[in-house]
Amino acid sequence: MKSNEGNTKGIILAGGAGTRLHPLTKIISKQLLPIYDKPMIYYPLELLIDAGIKNILIITTEQDIDKFKNLLGDGKNWGVNLDYQIQKKPEGIAQALVISKEWINSSPLILILGDNLFFGEGFNQIILEALKENVGATIFCKEMPDPNRFGVIELDNQFKVLSIEEKPKNPKSNFVVTGLYIYDEFASENASTLSKSKRGEFEITDLNNIYLRDQTLNAILLDDRFEWLDTGTFDSLLEASTFVKNNK
Ligand code: DAU
Repeated sequence: MKSNEGNTKGIILAGGAGTRLHPLTKIISKQLLPIYDKPMIYYPLELLIDAGIKNILIITTEQDIDKFKNLLGDGKNWGVNLDYQIQKKPEGIAQALVISKEWINSSPLILILGDNLFFGEGFNQIILEALKENVGATIFCKEMPDPNRFGVIELDNQFKVLSIEEKPKNPKSNFVVTGLYIYDEFASENASTLSKSKRGEFEITDLNNIYLRDQTLNAILLDDRFEWLDTGTFDSLLEASTFVKNNK
């Protein structure tokens, strides 16, 4: 069954320890840091709003939840409904879909990592189309020079996904999975079946591999017209602000 964009819910994952950006993130969540003239979370939030998502859940830490509530409120300003939930420990991206099972309530879903920024004209159209066409799961991929920092996909010459590996030492390609995922109504159920990885997390890559095994994983390759920034390092944080300033 295809996802219906009308009832698709959105989740922004904005927790995590943010230790890689200490001391910047010692007393404030990474997703509240400024990217040029707006807090980081505005970017994934606006992406979901532009995709027509009306119900959005922000998952964050106990320590930061009130700051997000103070900043964003109930979403009325944007014409959407915002809810909030705590992830007690950062035990993996896929865990977010388990703890929010009741909120998701078997709706199709679009999940975005709160530190992932996407730019480019027509990106919204790509998401809308992907929401309409989704059967199972859809991931968005980008060619990167340093793939071993990410989930890496192996593709055949028809751009069909053959495998996905989380931060492999010897990446099979330069194509990586970005932090934007569309799932059918079974995402929570599938995520509940996962075990922790060697690094102690419920991996989103393992969830995507379930869909891959079921032959219902679709990959959309974002070409050079689209910019994707994962603000996991000091340099990418600066790069993101500069990019926004120069493209305003
Ligand atoms: O950015 C894309 C990459 O994101 C993908 O290519 C990888 O497959 C995926 O595993 C993920 O890798 P990262 O190492 O970048 O994930 P990180 O631990 O940095 O978490 C990404 C965001 O999600 C970050 O803003 C914190 C938040 N997070 C993360 C975890 C593990 C949570 O809110 N809770 C968590 O438990």
